[in-house]
Amino acid sequence: MKALVLSGGAGTRMRPLTHTTAKQLVPVANKPVLFYGLEAIARAGIRDVGIIVGETADEIRDAIGDGSKFGLDVTYIPQAEPLGLAHAVLIAREFLGDDDFVMYLGDNFLVGGISRLVDNFRLERPDAQILLTRVSDPTVFGVAELGASGSVVRLEEKPLHPKSDLAVVGVYLFTPAIHEAVRSITPSLRGELEITHAIQWLIDTRRTVRSTTVSGYWKDTGNVMDMLEVNRTVLETLEPRIEGEVDEESQIIGRVLIEEGARVHRSRVVGPAIIGRSTVISDSYIGAYTSVSEDCRIENSEIEFSIVLRDSSIKGVRRVEASLIGRNVTVTPAPAVPHAHRLVLGDHSTVQISS
Ligand code: G1P
Repeated sequence: MKALVLSGGAGTRMRPLTHTTAKQLVPVANKPVLFYGLEAIARAGIRDVGIIVGETADEIRDAIGDGSKFGLDVTYIPQAEPLGLAHAVLIAREFLGDDDFVMYLGDNFLVGGISRLVDNFRLERPDAQILLTRVSDPTVFGVAELGASGSVVRLEEKPLHPKSDLAVVGVYLFTPAIHEAVRSITPSLRGELEITHAIQWLIDTRRTVRSTTVSGYWKDTGNVMDMLEVNRTVLETLEPRIEGEVDEESQIIGRVLIEEGARVHRSRVVGPAIIGRSTVISDSYIGAYTSVSEDCRIENSEIEFSIVLRDSSIKGVRRVEASLIGRNVTVTPAPAVPHAHRLVLGDHSTVQISS
């Protein structure tokens, strides 16, 4: 069994956080979302992984290398244009050969991994196995309609009027039957070869398509609360460890990971929380469900239930809550006089100001 991981898309929905980066590298608890997928693939006993890369290929290659740090053997497959998920299967034909494979969308996050699914698939080998999850807005997903016996009757890609709230999760298991399917379909209205249509082709030609409904699923839809929520879920499973330096005047409470080279001075950190490499926290309070990435400075501030990405600083601010702070950001109090907000905000920013 092999894995095909899709890391092509550029991530317009996460703007401004990802306008310079691959959406698959958005960190959850200080680790790129793609790494969780690769770890899950390795844990399921799969070694050969093809990674589809597009315009962000360099960043993905820098982050993953040859895959050995995950116990994987990675082959990069360039996709010149984002022509769809089924197109990715088409161009990976040579890499996939006649093996069964799991297709994993690199920006999807599945709590609990895929080992059980892969084991079941190996035993039963339906032509395709899809995962479904209940979502509040199915219009941004593939949507499944199930028959009386729970079998998949119909799949629709991003329907305006969804027939159910069951979204197709970006983790699929296929036998080589999918190759004929991806060759048989034509591009959708958005000009892409949709994997949803290829699976529908399997259903229409009477192959077995099974579904399992899962919970603990996340993908970036650009919703900050969703991102804070997945960060919270992962932090709850964090292994507490202090690799950095904590002075005697500081207090570390609960599930906290202080990464190497981080320094905590005269501060209180209440877990679950993670403080990234070489970050300095001084005279501050870091509350539960907070991830601070590497090379940040938090001074004289309070922050809780938030994500701070690398190279940012927060100085003299009480208190920051439910916030997502990008890279290289500076947050300071406004000067007392004049009584006006002075803002330098990037494209697509959202700011809440109490005035
Ligand atoms: C793709 C699939 C969609 C699926 C989603 C899951 O959408 O086309 O059916 O529900 O991934 O992430 P895309 O991310 O290409 O818009």
